[in-house]
Amino acid sequence: MRTLNCNNQPLLSGFTLSFCLYGAVAFAQASEPNNSINPWDDAALPVHTDAALLEGELDKTTLLKLLDQGEALFNAAFTTQDGVGRPMATQAIIPTKRKRAAREEFSRTAGLDASACSSCHNQPAIGGAGDFVANVFVSEGFQLADFDTTDPQFSNERNTNHLFGAGLVELLAREMSTELAKLRQTGLALARSTGETTTVDLVTKGVNFGKLDIHPDGVVSTKRLEGIDTDLIIKPFSQKGVITSLRQFSVNALNHHHGMQANERFGPRWTGTDDFDEDQVTNEISDADVSALVLWQATLQPPTVETDLPASWTAAAARGSKKFDEIGCNACHQRTLPLDSLVFADPGPMDAAGTLRTGENGATNNTVYDLALLDWASRLEKDAQGRWLVPLFGDLKRHVIADNKVDHLGNELLSQRFVERNVFMTSELWGIGSTAPYGHRGDLTTLVDIISAHGGDARDSRDVYVKLNETEKSDITAFLKTLVIKP
Ligand code: HEC
Ligand code: HEC
Repeated sequence: MRTLNCNNQPLLSGFTLSFCLYGAVAFAQASEPNNSINPWDDAALPVHTDAALLEGELDKTTLLKLLDQGEALFNAAFTTQDGVGRPMATQAIIPTKRKRAAREEFSRTAGLDASACSSCHNQPAIGGAGDFVANVFVSEGFQLADFDTTDPQFSNERNTNHLFGAGLVELLAREMSTELAKLRQTGLALARSTGETTTVDLVTKGVNFGKLDIHPDGVVSTKRLEGIDTDLIIKPFSQKGVITSLRQFSVNALNHHHGMQANERFGPRWTGTDDFDEDQVTNEISDADVSALVLWQATLQPPTVETDLPASWTAAAARGSKKFDEIGCNACHQRTLPLDSLVFADPGPMDAAGTLRTGENGATNNTVYDLALLDWASRLEKDAQGRWLVPLFGDLKRHVIADNKVDHLGNELLSQRFVERNVFMTSELWGIGSTAPYGHRGDLTTLVDIISAHGGDARDSRDVYVKLNETEKSDITAFLKTLVIKP
C-alpha cells in the first residue's frame, strides 16, 4: 500500500499551498507514521480528500477549500504511483475484465489516452473544451478493448466539450426529471380513477418530450416519447445525451482516460475486490475524491456575453440575435431555462447503480452546497416568479440531426446506449465563441459549416439559414461569437 504525504505535488501549480496545508491535515489523520514518499516522487494525488469536510451543508470557507482540492484533481497528471493503468480492466462503464493484459497501457484509441482531465478540457481555460487533437474514441469497451484503429466501426469519435456552467445544467436536468416523474404519477392516478386510457403531455420548463399513454391497469406506453429515455430521466451530459450526472461522468472518465478506478464503482461493493484492474494499487479514487472533483466542475462559472466590442460588432450581433429567433434556431437552442433552486446535492438523486446516489453511503459524505454562495451567481437574471434564468441556449433534449441529404452529422456507425446513430442532444451554445472547432466530432472549423450541417429535425431552420444573404449569415456569426467563456 502507498503511504503518501503532501510534499509531493510538483504539478499542482497555483494550488499547491492550500491543498498542501489541507492535505497535511488529512495525512496526519489518515495515514500511518511511515512516511515513505519523498518530495520528488511521482504521485499526483498524494493524499485523499478529507471526507469529513464533505458532510452536510457547506459554508463558503469549506466550499473554497474543496474547490482547491477539486481543481488539483482535475489538473493532476496521474501516475502509476496513484494507480494509473488498468492492465486487466477495459474502459467500459460497467466494470469489465480484459481477457489478457493490454499490449500497451497507453493507446490513443482505447485509452489510456491522457495524463489529466485538463489535458483535453483546456480551451480557453482549464475546464474548457478541446481541439480536434484531444478527441476521444468512445466505445462500450465490452470487447476488442484494445482496438487500435480510429475506424468508425470500432468507436465513435467525439470532440471535447466545455464544462463551464455544468452544475446549472445538472440542476436543470434534475428538476425537469422530477417534474416528468410527477406528470407520469398524476397520469397513472387519473387512468386508475377514471378507468380510461390517459394521455400525458410531457412538457417541463417549456420543453416537450412527447406523450405517455397510460392504461387503467398501469401499463405505460412509451411509443410517443421524444428525445428522452423511457425512464424519463434527462441525461444532460455527453453530446449524445446519455450520461446523467457529473458524478457518473467523472467516474467513467477517470477509468477510461487514466485507469484511475473509483471505489464507488470498481471497489468491493460491486466487484468483490479492491484491485479490480489488477495494477497492485488499491483505493485509487475515494468517494470523497470524486465528490471534490464533482464540486469543482459543478461550481464552474457559466459562460458569459462579451460586451466590450466595437460598435459595428455590437450592431451586427443585435441583428443576428433577432434573426436567430426568427429562423427557429431557438426552438432547440432555447435561450434560457428557468431553475427553481441553486442548491446542489452530491451524490445526486437521479443516478443508476454504480454511481453513488443520495443517501447511499449512509450519513457521511452527503454534501449540499448552494451555488448562490459563488460570486458569479449574482450575474444570473431571474424571471417574474423568482426563478434563476440559466442562459444555456439549449433544451437538454435529443433530436434527429441528420437526414439523407444533409448527412454530415450522421457520421457514426455505432449506436451508443441504444440511442439512434443520427440523434444527438442539442448543444448548449453558451461559450460557443470560445470553443471552436464545432460539431460532435470537432471536424467543422466555422460556424457557417456547423449550422449548414444541421439536418433532420433542424432541416427547416437550416434551409432558411442557408438561403440568408451573406450579411444576415455574418450577423448570426457575430451574435454567436459574443457567447464566450471568460474565466
Ligand atoms: C482525452 C481527452 C479527455 C480527457 C482526458 C477527459 N475528457 Fe472529459 N470529455 C472529453 C470528450 C471528448 C467529451 C465529450 C464526450 C461525448 O460527447 O461523448 C468529454 C465530456 C466530458 C463531460 C461532459 C460534458 C458535457 O457537457 O456533456 C464531463 C463532465 C467531463 N468530460 C469530465 C471529465 C473529467 C472529470 C475528466 C478527468 C477525470 C475528463 N473529462 C477527462 C474529453 C476528455
Ligand atoms: C432541431 C433542433 C435544432 C435546431 C432547430 C437547431 N439546432 Fe443547432 N444543434 C442541434 C444539435 C442536436 C446540435 C449538435 C450537433 C452535433 O451532433 O454535433 C447542434 C449544434 C449546433 C452548433 C454547434 C455547437 C458546438 O459546440 O459545436 C451550433 C453553432 C448551432 N447548433 C447553431 C444553430 C443555429 C444557428 C440554428 C438555426 C439555424 C440551429 N442551430 C438550429 C439542434 C438544433
